[in-house]
Amino acid sequence: MSTISPLRAPAPGNPATHPELSEALHQAVSHKSGEALALLQTVATDFSPAVFANSLGAEDMVLTDLILRNRLPIEIFSLDTGRLPPETYDLMAQTEKHYGTRLTVYYPRHENAEAYVRIHGINAFYQSTELRKACCQIRKVEPLQRALAGKKAWITGMRAQQSTTREALAIRSFDAGNGLEKFNPLADWSEKEVWAYIRIHQVPYNALHDQFYPSIGCAPCTRPISLGEDIRAGRWWWENPETKECGLHIRKE
Ligand code: ADX
Ligand code: SF4
Repeated sequence: MSTISPLRAPAPGNPATHPELSEALHQAVSHKSGEALALLQTVATDFSPAVFANSLGAEDMVLTDLILRNRLPIEIFSLDTGRLPPETYDLMAQTEKHYGTRLTVYYPRHENAEAYVRIHGINAFYQSTELRKACCQIRKVEPLQRALAGKKAWITGMRAQQSTTREALAIRSFDAGNGLEKFNPLADWSEKEVWAYIRIHQVPYNALHDQFYPSIGCAPCTRPISLGEDIRAGRWWWENPETKECGLHIRKE
């Protein structure tokens, strides 16, 4: 059985979520959000139907804000794995209220989740990378495939600076695994720019970000990080950085 401790005391204060809003940062954010909006408009018109995969993380709240405030015809969906932290559900409800909208949510197929738990146990993902990936396959990847069926493009909030696995991230690529175009409008944004946008536009965000969770996924697979640690260090922290992708973004081209 695993002896992994999911929690670690966070360091006090969080400068990441409250960057100093200098004139230069204001300008950079205004320029980059103009570019991101132009790209989203192009995707909405040239790749209809297009969808945006919204994890409710900080980057995804920037894209949610750009899409909903500008009334772009892009469907927004979230994958509810059944293991999300309560703060993420709170943010879903807050987002619906803030923008006067209803979020589209996809769930795992219950027979797959039930079989996994029956055979391997409720927290089997701590036991091996294979069992962790199998859980992600059931709770994230299969529902994603249903969300992408019949679509011409999908949009994510990924950034190149998030991890070693994303260094070569392009703004646009063909997702051969799912058979459609994939757009990452924030690929070249810094973490500071994301947070500056959120502050400038008063965008709702996950309360866990103020508690040293820069990257948030399922509750049992996410923990807070310490100052100076990699921003994805709290995701699947018991695995090597090279294996830390859930399968939503595996390149097959
Ligand atoms: S991931 O490894 O969980 O995919 P991350 O949390 O950095 O990593 O998410 C990267 C992108 O994948 C998000 O910007 C979002 O587009 C998509 N994504 C991740 N989790 C979800 C989710 N639960 N629902 C919808 N989209 C998601
Ligand atoms: Fe399962 Fe953890 Fe993957 Fe969530 S992140 S689907 S709980 S292994």
